[in-house]
Amino acid sequence: MAAATADVARLFFAAWPAPEVQRALGKIARDAQPECGGRAVPTGNIHLTLIFLGNLPRHRVTALETIASSVRGHPFALTVDRLEYWRHNRIVWGGTRACPEALQALVARLQDALAGAAFRFDRRPYVPHVTLLRNARRAPAEDRCPDVAWPVDGFALVESSPQERGRAYHVLRSWPLDG
Ligand code: 2AM
Repeated sequence: MAAATADVARLFFAAWPAPEVQRALGKIARDAQPECGGRAVPTGNIHLTLIFLGNLPRHRVTALETIASSVRGHPFALTVDRLEYWRHNRIVWGGTRACPEALQALVARLQDALAGAAFRFDRRPYVPHVTLLRNARRAPAEDRCPDVAWPVDGFALVESSPQERGRAYHVLRSWPLDG
């Protein structure tokens, strides 16, 4: 895979929350931090990855935009009602007990369209997760049950760039879910 330079972009498709949803999720991250350790993802960075593409030549952004423009999907309500911990990468994340069918369908359609254009990505079964704490030392208590309603009515192509501390995410373009 290409190394990060001005000609290379680290890219992913995501659902990007409205500021009030980011704030609600950011509060859950901050509330869990004293118990779990690690660092809270900055509120403005909180998102749900749909497909991670990794480093690609920047000129391929146009092809990605064309593909995304052809993908139709229905809006859906995502309820973030689980707080989980992955020991292997020390992430505390928000998830959902009931993954909306429209979310699975959107990811599947994007995957099919991308694969048809020879883009490569991880094809493991999709587990929606919203990263809230990085480098966390322990799992949150089981009684920490978030309840955040996130109406998802679009998706975005996002670029991830290194910053002095952490990463900056820049929405390159977004598309409505109005199919
Ligand atoms: P994470 O929060 O679990 O690290 C931008 O980096 C987004 O893409 C994040 O949501 C991140 O997930 C995800 N991401 C980064 N590297 C990835 C990889 N190798 N496979 C899948 N998703 C990845």
